[in-house]
Amino acid sequence: MHSSKTKFSFKNGLSLTEGIESLKRYATNLKGIFSDAKSLEKILEKNPLIYEFYDLGVEEKPGNLAYGTSIVYPGVVGKEFYMTKGHFHTVLDTAEVYLCISGRGLMLMENPEGITEIQELTPGEAVLVPGRFAHRSINISDTEPLVTFFTFAADAGHDYGTIEQKGFRKLVLRTGDGTYEVVDNPNWKA
Ligand code: NI
Repeated sequence: MHSSKTKFSFKNGLSLTEGIESLKRYATNLKGIFSDAKSLEKILEKNPLIYEFYDLGVEEKPGNLAYGTSIVYPGVVGKEFYMTKGHFHTVLDTAEVYLCISGRGLMLMENPEGITEIQELTPGEAVLVPGRFAHRSINISDTEPLVTFFTFAADAGHDYGTIEQKGFRKLVLRTGDGTYEVVDNPNWKA
């Protein structure tokens, strides 16, 4: 295997290397993810881009590292901030590091035993998501994209299905300009 290099913008997180395209998640891709289905329904016509991220296609074998950036745009669905779907790793015990490049956000994490952890992310701060913890990036700024750089063991795999079915135990809701509250998810399925 050869070395490789990708250039990311520190301004908006997007790839500056030609030919590298992000994966995009629009409102329509996030049905059942936001708790307020009625509010999501209202924005489906405009179908805004909620977040995008990179999968650079690093071979999924032990010892390799996958990496890229994730960009969550500012906005709310009802009171819930724009956020990623969130996932467990298929190899459950695989950790991941997120470094905040710009914006302001939260990393919401929970493990199968029901422990929730939340870390705020501001530029320069890096969060270690421990193994066994599902993780979701949440943009709590009203104006700026949340840009993070991530890296994890390339053979970890992604389990999106568990969160799609059950949701996270906690929701993060906007309560005002720059403020939020963490509440129990009424739709959480045991
Ligand atoms: Ni992950």
